[in-house]
Amino acid sequence: MKIAIIGAGYVGLVTALCFSDMGHNVVCVDTDIKKVKSLKEGKTPIYEKRLDELLEKHLNKNFKVTSDLSDAMAEEPEAIFIAVGTPSDSEGRLDLSYVKKAAIDIAKYLDFYSVIVMKSTVLPGSTESLVPIIEKESKRKLGSGFGLAMNPEFLKEGTAVEDFMKPDRIVIGYYDEKSRKVLEEIYTSITAPKIFTDIKTAEMIKYASNVFLAARVSLINEIGNICKQLGIDVYEVAEAVGLDKRIGPYFLRAGVGFGGSCFPKDIMALINKSKEIGENADIMEAIVKVNDRQPLKILQLALQKFPNLHKKRITVLGLAFKADTDDIRESRAVPLIEALLSMGADVTVYDPLAMQNFKKQYNYKIKYAEDLHDALKSADICFIMTDWAEFKKAKDYENVYIFDGRNLFRRLHNYEGICW
Ligand code: UDX
Repeated sequence: MKIAIIGAGYVGLVTALCFSDMGHNVVCVDTDIKKVKSLKEGKTPIYEKRLDELLEKHLNKNFKVTSDLSDAMAEEPEAIFIAVGTPSDSEGRLDLSYVKKAAIDIAKYLDFYSVIVMKSTVLPGSTESLVPIIEKESKRKLGSGFGLAMNPEFLKEGTAVEDFMKPDRIVIGYYDEKSRKVLEEIYTSITAPKIFTDIKTAEMIKYASNVFLAARVSLINEIGNICKQLGIDVYEVAEAVGLDKRIGPYFLRAGVGFGGSCFPKDIMALINKSKEIGENADIMEAIVKVNDRQPLKILQLALQKFPNLHKKRITVLGLAFKADTDDIRESRAVPLIEALLSMGADVTVYDPLAMQNFKKQYNYKIKYAEDLHDALKSADICFIMTDWAEFKKAKDYENVYIFDGRNLFRRLHNYEGICW
């Protein structure tokens, strides 16, 4: 099928290249000229497993990229996916301006029938709120002139391609049968439960999924903090708890909390929506509160052992919000680094992938180590904030006392884990 994807960001690019790999003809549109140029040269602007390989395989065959939407629309795609950013405003409310702009731009060139599909994470009601804008701009009517659907993504950074190809489920919110058929055809080759529902429900499924996952992390962290005080290993507790089929084993890794582009932003957006409609969001507010506290819990542990961190040589391992990505959004290392600097510590950091991004965004007085050895060779204390496998080598450095926020080790003599 002919598909256009608006937005070559994380979600848009993975979606576009996976659709190409499924045999569809895809054109991806982005206003960022530098990004488009780099993609045309066969370079992916983000680090994600298998993405380079897919780009090489499909570029200039059934995958094209352009900064000119009219080019993409000239091909008369049967579906147009909106996969642009949905940032938060300063109050944590969802900012729909990119989504609205994309809808207006699409509508300008919409002189044929196509299904407009929302891929970006948007609050219930947002996709349908675009209809008057599209109708006005395109002078076409929803139903006869264009279709509408909402198809949320559930991709994890680091395994996004695999998550796309082998999903737990595909959720499709659709306006009418005509729209449903197009989406059904796009996903024919993927074997997974397919949930067909209305558009608002599809939007809510995405938020509910993320809130549930984040809730599990905050809950196990809270239990872990209690366990720590009582001398209990929360990982042993979680293993046994997870064997209960009603609970399940996933997302019970206690540590320094969750970061990333989705959980923090989506929970705040839903909390704000709840308030707007006069509903309580007590549990969601607690998820955020526990998560904000969690990176500093590891510092409290360190202060029990080393009450004065002034001039101590401290290494923070891990700037990415989790392993296998260079993404530093809502990195758990940030609150820790800020607290360490305010105490006058001498801070060195190391991350195998995320240091460039970190340097670009933050202007802290810290040292960036060349490699793990450089980071640890003369450190007194080390904090592990990301679960990179290579950080396991830290245990070979007898000079360093380790505070492990990601449960990479258990029970070393020069070691303290956050939650056991
Ligand atoms: C998440 C959702 O999993 C995905 O479905 C959605 O589309 C986008 O948001 P992602 O942000 O890539 O994906 O990462 P994920 O693997 O879910 O981890 C999120 C954060 O939670 C990370 O900081 C991770 O370290 C933390 N986490 C996860 C824990 O602290 N403990 C756990 O048990 C699991």
